[in-house]
Amino acid sequence: MKIFNDPKTLQSFSEMLRLQEKRIGFVPTMGALHDGHLSLVKIAKSRADVVVMSIFVNPLQFGKAEDFGKYPRPFERDVELARFAGVDILFAPSAEALYGQGFQSFVEVEHVSKGFEGAIRPTHFRGVATVVLKLFNLTKPHVAVFGEKDAQQLTLIRRMATDLNLDVEIIGAPIVREPDGLAMSSRNVYLTSEQRKEATVLYRALMQAKSQLDAGERNVDVLKMLVTRTIQASPTALIDYVDIVDDDAFSPATSLQSGKSYFLILAVRLGEVRLLDNLHFSA
Ligand code: PAJ
Repeated sequence: MKIFNDPKTLQSFSEMLRLQEKRIGFVPTMGALHDGHLSLVKIAKSRADVVVMSIFVNPLQFGKAEDFGKYPRPFERDVELARFAGVDILFAPSAEALYGQGFQSFVEVEHVSKGFEGAIRPTHFRGVATVVLKLFNLTKPHVAVFGEKDAQQLTLIRRMATDLNLDVEIIGAPIVREPDGLAMSSRNVYLTSEQRKEATVLYRALMQAKSQLDAGERNVDVLKMLVTRTIQASPTALIDYVDIVDDDAFSPATSLQSGKSYFLILAVRLGEVRLLDNLHFSA
């Protein structure tokens, strides 16, 4: 596995791979790797000749009061996990190298970036869209893999790729979970052992909604209420939002149309920690 820190070096290497007609698969991450990230590598490997992973804790997507400083950065461990997963090129630039002096160009994906995570974190998605476009320009991927865990981010990247005619196929990957159902996340390390136990309520609530969907329930309010009640019954969990959105525009659905796909999305606070989870389903 090669490790590059310098953007220009990666870009020249990607260009050379393209000239050799290699298919490039890309997995952007912020590190603190877990099996969720590694599942994306596996998908990228099945779709490409060369897999590039980036590890970059992107300052642009963190709000002032957020956890940029304390975000976990176990770099040596990440290098070993990436190597073991079969990553060919690991790109780990510094913030100074990626955002040179005088940086002032940003990508706004207007609608998708507004609600839900965007309402709570107003500059988050412009930071995500901007860094992902920069990383695409350096990596020149044919395919890029993103997790459905961050459903709004996946929808936003797809929108950006369509709107800006990016020549890259965006692949959405299913959520990888702990044995008890908690969606894997680099931020789960912030949970106390009590909160970690309580955190399983998100998956339980989603599974209750899934069994109602499987039984034919199609009323949006009934499904949302079921999830809300289950989470409210948990001792300390506080709901930021529970909603059902279509999976192309991320607009809240008032009714479910047969054949269309949706995300049942939720964000829940346990103390200081915010957890996101969702269920992707077809009506
Ligand atoms: P990060 O949170 O490190 O996630 C990197 C990728 O892993 C994202 O596509 C995310 O959706 C996916 N992922 C995280 N947990 C997952 C899980 N349990 N199962 C499957 N996939 C999972 O998302 C980011 O970084 C950043 O915003 C980034 C896109 C790198 C831009 O900075």
